[in-house]
Amino acid sequence: MGQQEEIDSAESEINFFELIPKVIEPLSSGTLEEAKKLVNKVFPLQTEEENSDKWLTFSLEQREKNQDAGREYSNKPGYWVFLKGKKVVGIIGLYEYGRNAKNVSWLGWFCVDPAFRKRGIGSELLEYAIAAAKKSGKKRLRLYTTNDPNEADAQKLYEKYGFLVTKKNAGKRGKYTVFHRELVLV
Ligand SMILES: CC(C)(COP(=O)(O)OP(=O)(O)OC[C@H]1O[C@@H](n2cnc3c(N)ncnc32)[C@H](O)[C@@H]1OP(=O)(O)O)[C@@H](O)C(=O)NCCC(=O)NCCS
Repeated sequence: MGQQEEIDSAESEINFFELIPKVIEPLSSGTLEEAKKLVNKVFPLQTEEENSDKWLTFSLEQREKNQDAGREYSNKPGYWVFLKGKKVVGIIGLYEYGRNAKNVSWLGWFCVDPAFRKRGIGSELLEYAIAAAKKSGKKRLRLYTTNDPNEADAQKLYEKYGFLVTKKNAGKRGKYTVFHRELVLV
């Protein structure tokens, strides 16, 4: 192999994507609009109650209120975005709901931009949320999902991380069946 060929070959092995800095950080007013767009693109079927725009905005309003009051609210939803450079390429969130709020967190709006999938970003976000739920003293992490083919890759990840199906046929979203999964944290 000539010298130039060796240089070309070495360069083609450099993964330029890996060189772009990445960070997982709390959703903020600076990333809110991009995060909303991503969630709406990945989850076009949302019920009035689910309304991601509403919940993502609400989570920030609560956080700002918390800072004003200088104390923590136990039931605030929290979202984190995965940034590659300055671009929001993924999101995940935790929220509490109902009577089991002290011991149970729910996973919300977990997705990665289709152009950035299969590079480990979803796994990093999921591990981040599991660690955050454990750190906040939760005993279980739950989620609901569907048999929409667009959510098929998520089922593989959930299985890999130990989220077992606990309920099936719990409802409908569009033409898809909703089911619940749970990971025991302690
Ligand atoms: C689920 C989802 C978040 C996963 O995101 P992702 O960034 O592709 O996740 P990962 O890259 O960590 O893992 C996905 C697969 O890529 C593989 N992978 C990870 N890094 C890789 C790499 N560098 N090269 C090749 N494959 C890789 C993983 O092993 C995994 O394989 P598997 O599907 O056989 O288990 C994404 O598919 C998504 O947004 N889906 C639609 C929304 C959705 O369903 N959300 C959940 C609703 S409940």
